[in-house]
Amino acid sequence: MTQDTGRTTHFGFETIAEDEKAGRVHGVFTNVASKYDVMNDAMSLGIHRLWKDAMLDWLAPRPGQRLLDVAGGTGDIAFRFLARAPEAHATVCDMTEGMLVAGRQRAEAENLSDRLDWVVGDAMALPFEDGSFDTYTISFGIRNVTRIPDALAEAHRVLRPGGRLMVLEFSQLPNPLMQKAYDLYSFNVIPPMGQAIAGDRDSYQYLVESIRQFPDQDRFAGMIVDAGFANVKYRNLSFGIAALHSGWKI
Ligand SMILES: C[S@@+](CC[C@H](N)C(=O)[O-])C[C@H]1O[C@@H](n2cnc3c(N)ncnc32)[C@H](O)[C@@H]1O
Repeated sequence: MTQDTGRTTHFGFETIAEDEKAGRVHGVFTNVASKYDVMNDAMSLGIHRLWKDAMLDWLAPRPGQRLLDVAGGTGDIAFRFLARAPEAHATVCDMTEGMLVAGRQRAEAENLSDRLDWVVGDAMALPFEDGSFDTYTISFGIRNVTRIPDALAEAHRVLRPGGRLMVLEFSQLPNPLMQKAYDLYSFNVIPPMGQAIAGDRDSYQYLVESIRQFPDQDRFAGMIVDAGFANVKYRNLSFGIAALHSGWKI
């Protein structure tokens, strides 16, 4: 049951009631969970792996750190973090249980279960104590969240003073010609690919539309500053198809 607040938001290019969005997003990721990892490689020609490695390069995890990976899905960021930081622990939090189930199977196969927790939860109301993590990551998750400022405020709350936020998200290409070529690829190739591989065109149509709706690099950096983070910086990946944003809680 949803509560009608009268506020609206985007679901891809559709305008919907704010209170409907989480249910629709949950539906998308429940549908794609079992094919999520395969589709990521197919859609990006494997490039998402390089972007995730770039995130970990900038993050530079240290031994013993506690990571919270929100919208962590099947655990791509958490696995990379643990591989680079001995004695570290990762908590993967996601609102779609199906995604976490796929991730937990990977953890068991890689004998990492004792260094990982899998928690169902919403980025806008995290089920964790104040100041309980050294690092907060969110990778290709934040554009799906209904109220991004609420998620950033929660990130700030659960980090300890001195803790770090890092966001990996699709972004905007600064050059209109490149943007046009990229749009041609994303709108014409990705939904049919979703149909062919995952039997689900609509979820992948949502995916490409949601990318276009997300704020550009500078606007998103401003939202991170507004949430109270300091020393906020970003780096473009693949000319701005994606971007990394970093901020510190001081
Ligand atoms: C595109 S997947 C990203 C998964 C993983 N982080 C990665 O980079 O491969 C987006 C994930 O965000 C989750 N998600 C969307 N909105 C959320 C919210 N409000 N709170 C928690 N998770 C959310 C979805 O369930 C989905 O698993």
